Amino acid sequence: MSPTEPAPPSFSAVEVIAAKRDRRGLSREQIDWVLGAYTREEVADEQMAALAMAILLNGMDAAETAHWTQAMIDSGEVLDFGDVGRPLVDKHSTGGVGDKITLPLAPLVAACGAAVPQLSGRGLGHTGGTLDKLEAIPGWRASLTTEQIRAQLVEVGAVVCATTPTLAPADRRLYALRDVTGTVESVPLIASSIMSKKLAEGTGGLVLDVKVGSGAFMKTFERAGELADAMTAIGAAHGLPTTALLTDMSRPLGRCVGNALEVAESVDVLRGGGPDDVVALTVALAGEMLTLAGLPDADPAAVLASGAAYEVWERMIAAQGGDPSAPLPVARHVETVTADRSGVFAGADALAVGTAAWRLGAGRARKEDPVQATAGVRMLVGPGDEVRAGTPLLELHTDTPERLADARRLLTGAALPVDADPPPERALVLDVRRAG
Ligand code: URA
Repeated sequence: MSPTEPAPPSFSAVEVIAAKRDRRGLSREQIDWVLGAYTREEVADEQMAALAMAILLNGMDAAETAHWTQAMIDSGEVLDFGDVGRPLVDKHSTGGVGDKITLPLAPLVAACGAAVPQLSGRGLGHTGGTLDKLEAIPGWRASLTTEQIRAQLVEVGAVVCATTPTLAPADRRLYALRDVTGTVESVPLIASSIMSKKLAEGTGGLVLDVKVGSGAFMKTFERAGELADAMTAIGAAHGLPTTALLTDMSRPLGRCVGNALEVAESVDVLRGGGPDDVVALTVALAGEMLTLAGLPDADPAAVLASGAAYEVWERMIAAQGGDPSAPLPVARHVETVTADRSGVFAGADALAVGTAAWRLGAGRARKEDPVQATAGVRMLVGPGDEVRAGTPLLELHTDTPERLADARRLLTGAALPVDADPPPERALVLDVRRAG
């Protein structure tokens, strides 16, 4: 063999696929080889698709999943912000309708003394992306260099920005492939996908908000618990203190769904107002993050009420070119949906509201689609409110009125239940999971 010829692979893709097809565990070497070769485009998409399907059907145990995660991290760069002078801690949500929690949470945790390096993605489908929300703010930009992230962590303490292409590139390719091969729903593949990006980001602690319910990726408590356990186990295997909260997503969070609408609601929370559920979840997640950051005595509720988190928010937005005092864009068309009978409003269904907001233009069907900053749904009543036939329940916002009929069709009957009796109380935080 000449010195320029590549070394022969240690495995063949077919051998690795067949091992998982036959329910055998994959060795660390097989995993390193297959993900490395896939990143170098030496393993073909159809081979990786077959392996992903074998994993979906036959699973991976905790050791395989931890190795898979490590191999995805090793496919790219690992960031190190250990020199920013504050403990690092981050949060990841599996995605929900009206889930704007990162917006008040990152500045709140920074105002309590930790540093939050949140590298985020964009939204796909009925759950909105954090970057899409922040881009509703005039001038705000999502892309930062690693040095800009570091400087902002030192000066402000919180960064929410786009993930860099060098972070876990194997996941980027694999996630796109899973999306078109019916293999997204594998717990070890979801868990390793999320955790590889968070581990490569260089955080020192991680709080996971695993959503449960109609508006969530995981519809049942059992599936969400499985995902939470898989992710906390990966955190433990990699020495990353990780806590998962299972939280309710059968109803939208807060009253607003849509990019500019959610920014406005987050600013209300940072100014000491806002819906109770958004405030409660922000404070609960901040408490967990501060405990992992070694700041268990910080009082996030008091810091939120003091206005200190709002000051960090202004600096965080300005540092990324945004004007925190600029008026947010408003939709050109707003239509109201009213109650069709009298009774007690039981709360809107999260999936129906999320899908309606998406159809109004707030979300995208393909990752290259644009989103409307102004589109979305604003709820005018909350669970337990008494309504009469004809009472306005919610507003539909869009710049493209031809989208209104589709959204209206989604928001009827069981999506907006009005009952004779008040709805039962629902807990927002359903469970807390830690590894071990
Ligand atoms: N989000 C991710 O980042 N990866 C998945 O596999 C699913 C959701």
